[in-house]
Amino acid sequence: MTYAPEASQADIERAARALEDGLLVALPTETVYGLGADAENPAAIAAIYAAKGRPQDHPVIVHVAPGADLDYWTCDIPPEARRLAEAFWPGPLTMILKRAPHIPDAVSGGQDTVGIRCPSHPVAVRLLQAFKGGRGGVAAPSANKFGHVSPTTAAHVRAEFGDDARIAAVLEGGQSEVGIESTIVDLSRLATHGPVLLRPGHISPEQIAAVIGRLPGRPDAAAPRASGTLESHYAPRTPVALLDGIALAHAVQRLHASGRRVAVIHQRAIPAVHAAVQLPLDPAGYAHALYAALRAMDEPGADVILVEAPPQEDAWLGVNDRLRRAAHGSAGVIDRLAGATLGA
Ligand code: TXA
Ligand code: MG
Repeated sequence: MTYAPEASQADIERAARALEDGLLVALPTETVYGLGADAENPAAIAAIYAAKGRPQDHPVIVHVAPGADLDYWTCDIPPEARRLAEAFWPGPLTMILKRAPHIPDAVSGGQDTVGIRCPSHPVAVRLLQAFKGGRGGVAAPSANKFGHVSPTTAAHVRAEFGDDARIAAVLEGGQSEVGIESTIVDLSRLATHGPVLLRPGHISPEQIAAVIGRLPGRPDAAAPRASGTLESHYAPRTPVALLDGIALAHAVQRLHASGRRVAVIHQRAIPAVHAAVQLPLDPAGYAHALYAALRAMDEPGADVILVEAPPQEDAWLGVNDRLRRAAHGSAGVIDRLAGATLGA
């Protein structure tokens, strides 16, 4: 693997001025790379939606510098939110809170809440400190086309957007350490619904409970919408099937018998296939490498990507959530591919 040098302070200052001018900047965070714009500039936010091909009513997360004033961005802040910020910021936790009246509709997708997080990646922190003297917010969804796999390197961002003239800069920051998107906890309806986990991530429900004394619940029908909670998301273009080790070996045999090309993402030994990536046995290491692996296995022209299902334990919640979404819509793909030639 090659490591590009991290963005210099001069690059970061230039990017901060571009954001102040209403342009888009892609930035590294510890979770995934984001496509950023001034959170107080509705036209700049509209440009993010256009570049991503994302529906207008999907809210974006506002990223703020360490020590930022939560009261500026949100209102009715429960003490639990301040405790979580204290415990996990800067870091991979997004909180949904009631939005302050001056936050543009474009940021919240028209909802009365706003998602806010303080990232820990040093380049993101320096950008947020340089932008509007550290008092601004950078609205940033993951820097991928809508529904596609999130980028964990600057090269992934360039592969997604090519030389899209709407993006003034792609800041280098190496490979994102966490590798999957931030944990999202909704605290906007705490009094009536308690804390709700909208998206699992590196920060676990148990870690949240240890700080606020309550385990976040599952989203109900009235929970705020999150595009990360759409069934089909984080998906490569090649169909993905999730299988345990024995079923995977069997599927490889059937697919090979039908002349299919198979890519595999696995943890333990597998038969020889067209392309394969082996991922670590621990959940943090696996998450770190997952999106790069999905992208790599999308490349070599395989008919299907088989993924050896990781353990179903709590520590794998974030990883299993992303894998399930990547595989959504591919039900029956193995029978279809294996059957088509056999039956022909
Ligand atoms: O790790 C991350 O969170 C990355 C990095 C760049 O910070 N960002 C990210 O953004 O994953 P995005 O837009 O790809 O996913 C943000 C999720 C979406 O599912 C969105 O619907 C949800 O957060 N979200 C944002 N604001 C919300 C709100 N006010 N209410 C409910 N969901 C919200
Ligand atoms: Mg995303």
